[in-house]
Parts: sequence; C-alpha cells; structure tokens
Amino acid sequence: MRVIADRLPNLRFGKAYEDRQYLPVREVRALVDTPFAWDVTDEGRAKAGRHPKPSEIGNDDGWMRGHVIARRKVATDVVEIVLAADAGALPAWTPGAHAEIELPNSMIRQYSLTGEQTDNGQWTVAVLREADGRGGSRFMHDDLPVGSKIRVRPPRNHFPLSGEGPVLLIAGGIGITPMIPMLAAAEARGRHAELVYLGKSRDGMAYASEAQARGQDRVTVWPAQENGRFDLAARLSTVSSDTTVYCCGPERLIQAVEQACEKFGLTCRAERFVPAQFDDSTNEPFEIELRSTGEVLPVGAGETILSVLGRRGIFVQSTCQQGTCGTCEVGVVEGDILHRDSVLTKEERAADDTIMVCVSRCAGKRLVLKL
Ligand code: FES
Repeated sequence: MRVIADRLPNLRFGKAYEDRQYLPVREVRALVDTPFAWDVTDEGRAKAGRHPKPSEIGNDDGWMRGHVIARRKVATDVVEIVLAADAGALPAWTPGAHAEIELPNSMIRQYSLTGEQTDNGQWTVAVLREADGRGGSRFMHDDLPVGSKIRVRPPRNHFPLSGEGPVLLIAGGIGITPMIPMLAAAEARGRHAELVYLGKSRDGMAYASEAQARGQDRVTVWPAQENGRFDLAARLSTVSSDTTVYCCGPERLIQAVEQACEKFGLTCRAERFVPAQFDDSTNEPFEIELRSTGEVLPVGAGETILSVLGRRGIFVQSTCQQGTCGTCEVGVVEGDILHRDSVLTKEERAADDTIMVCVSRCAGKRLVLKL
C-alpha cells in the first residue's frame, strides 16, 4: 500500500465516509469493501517521478514534445513513422541509437532510429506489428496517424559503431533498422562494411531494396523462403580476424551469431529487444549501500534493486524494466555484479562498474552504488 500511495499521491477512499458499509465482526468493525480513487494531476505525477501525457505539457524532465509527420508501409506488418519536434529540431543521433517515444496512451517504447542521418531534425523509426506483444506496436500501427502528438527523450546508443577495421552487420527481420545507418556510417568512415540481411519472406523484409541498392557485392539479402537456411558458420569462417560483427534481430539469431563469433575468435556486438531469460528461483538476498549516505538497504530474493530504491523514495528512471533499454543504469563503486541485462557488452560487464538495476543483482553480499 505504501508503494501505491507513493506513486499515486492523490490516492483516497473512493466512497464517502457516510456511504461505507461495515461487516458485523465481533468487537471490531470491518469494511465490506475498500474502493480507492485517484486523480493523477501534474503535481502528483511530478511527486511520483512520472511523466505527464504529451497532451498535458511541453518540454520537461528531458522529454520533448513532437508529432508524427509521415507514415508509410515498408513491408508486410512493418510501418515506417517519421517524427518531428513541435518546436525546433529533434536531437541529433548516431547510428545504432534508439529513441524513447511516449505514445498518446502513455505507453513508452524504444525503437532504433533508422534512415539517412540528415540534419533536418526529424527521426525515422520502423515498427513491426507484434500481435502477441504488449500493445505498443499495435498502437503505432493502428492508432498513430499523421499529426498524432507524442513525446520523446534524447536517443541513447548502446550499440555504436566502435573500433577500427572491417565491419560485418547481420540483421534478422526488423533488426535491419539500426543497420541501414550503421552501414552508411561505416562506409563514410572508410571501413570495409558488409551487410547480411536475413528474413522469412522478401515482402516481410523492410528496406530490402534500399539495402540491396547499396551494392550487390557487399549486401546479401536472404529471404529463407526463396533461398533456404543461411549458413552463418560458413559466412563467418571467411571474414578476417579483425572484423567486428554487429547483430540485431531475434534472440535465436543473436545467440547463433555470438556462438559462431566465439568459435572463430571474432568480436561480436549485439542489440537485443527481448529480455534475457533467467531462473529467478536461484536468486539470493544481498545488500546495497548508497555511497552518498552510507545507508545500507537489504534486497530480498524476490525483489529488484529498482523496487528497493523506489520503496526508499530514491527515484531511478526506468522504462522497460526488463533489462533491454539501459534507462536504469547506475554506477557501481564496489561489489561483484550478476549482470542480467541485454544492453551491456562483454567488456562493459567485465568492468563491473555499472548495473541495470531493474534486473541485475549482486553476485556476492553487497554492492556499493553511486547514489
Ligand atoms: S529499465 Fe530498461 S534496462 Fe532497466
């Protein structure tokens, strides 16, 4: 109840005092029911650290107000949506970045930015309709016409083009979206870059012809219905050892690419949109210490660091709460981390200096957080 009251500061009984009914109980009274009601005002939202709807206010708390300026179908079940700021320009982005978009129904979703990197202050995303998803993609497809109001936060990039040397991009399905600008950027930097684009059927593969137009010799578009199964191991066995492989797509593809890269000693970077699966039954309790105050808080086996911080009144921004967006990242000063996110690279995990508090835990007894 305390957490609910913190998050809904206007929470109150939904029935007037005189309308409440009581059950006859020996010596004490018991309410027949306890309806609650609340008004989520701007003040209440601010107190609870939540974000008002796009229609309610403009820029605040890092959010920027914008709207849909164009949309078109780019494949079966894939819609491309172009966004612009209501005033000024949307922030610049780098290839591999994802945008955080708040829809008019208050859902917040992340999508990779795609298309040409221009300086017109507009963003383009492409969204696959996920019939069994949580509703964000359905809303983008069915209820977000041109002119719809949205809010966005500045892009984050956990999947940047890094290092030197050749680049091999492997995209599966809608995982093509970050790869189009990454391919262009790698080429612009004079790096040898190739793209392998895998999908089930050609008409379901967004931007297939745009990708192909970048060069038959460097781009492979592979619809399995036409060509059968793609031999990943054979493809990866031919690349030079200084190649960095980037992969975005379904988890099964990412795992196959990671395993093949391991086998051939290649550096692999992956962008995941689905949470990694873990067995929570093996969770152990541990403690977190807040560096700023020295306060120590216990985290139970069934709790997350994020929930413990929230209960203590320490607000950490969190969007996906599944370890896939990187919003809840917190610095770690001391302690071994049990990483369970899908954002950090192998090297970043090894550094043990940052944690996604929505899913990751402590591998020992205590973590000291930069909070
Ligand atoms: S809230 Fe998205 S990674 Fe934690």
